[in-house]
Amino acid sequence: MKVLTTVKEVREHYRISVLRNPGFVPTMGALHEGHLSLVAKATDSCRMVAVSIFVNPTQFNDPHDLLRYPRTLDADLEMLSGVLRENDFVFVPSVEEIYPEPDMRRFDFGDLERVMEGVHRPGHFNGVAQVVSRLFDIIRPSAAFFGQKDFQQLTIIRELARREYPRVEIIACPIVREHDGLAMSSRNRRLLTQHREKAGEIYRTLIAASAMISDYEIPEIREFVADRINMIPDFRLEYFEIVEESTLKPVNSVIEMSPEKKYYGCIALWAGEIRLIDNIETGLR
Ligand code: PAF
Repeated sequence: MKVLTTVKEVREHYRISVLRNPGFVPTMGALHEGHLSLVAKATDSCRMVAVSIFVNPTQFNDPHDLLRYPRTLDADLEMLSGVLRENDFVFVPSVEEIYPEPDMRRFDFGDLERVMEGVHRPGHFNGVAQVVSRLFDIIRPSAAFFGQKDFQQLTIIRELARREYPRVEIIACPIVREHDGLAMSSRNRRLLTQHREKAGEIYRTLIAASAMISDYEIPEIREFVADRINMIPDFRLEYFEIVEESTLKPVNSVIEMSPEKKYYGCIALWAGEIRLIDNIETGLR
């Protein structure tokens, strides 16, 4: 695998390797098994794979979060060297390489960004769209692989691709979980031991909430989730919503749900100072 840091090097790599339009796995580094599952899916289906490692400043609405975001480049490259092939590459650009000038673009995703993360992290999805479009322009992938843990991000990127990158196939990959069900995330390594020990409760709560759909109303399910999360010391629920897959429209009553559609129960919470998200497919089936 090659490690490239500039747009010029990417162009040169395409020129000498003849292949272009790789399968693309964008990441912010601090890689874990979840990322590796995306890379495995990409290497299975694409003759060339590009992985980017770039902590994108424009998607952090909280400057402390950006500062504290784990950066483990050496370990990341070590991990990738075990799975990427000779012609594959890792793109590790600087902020100046991605944003030679401040990115003033404003993306409007309408109702897709007026719920959940869009409400609690203002500007976040604009930053995600800026960096993903910039990376798509540089890498020019045929397919891009995203984890389903960032469920709302995936929907927004699908919309971005539909509008501006119709040739890029967006491939959703299942959530990879720790032994106790905690969804893998780069942020997990920042959890305090006592919070990490309790964090398996998040997924158990999602499973229980999902099973309640046939017998309870949505406000009762929301209350159940809030009670169960908030009773863990230092845990605080930010939101729990059941939303329809493609519109992300929150459902407020089971009567609104159609057996033909897919729904997801989405949760965001604080475990001490660390913000975690997760989701589970649910519905009337
Ligand atoms: O999901 C992430 O890690 C990031 O939001 C992404 C898609 C790499 C953009 O910075």
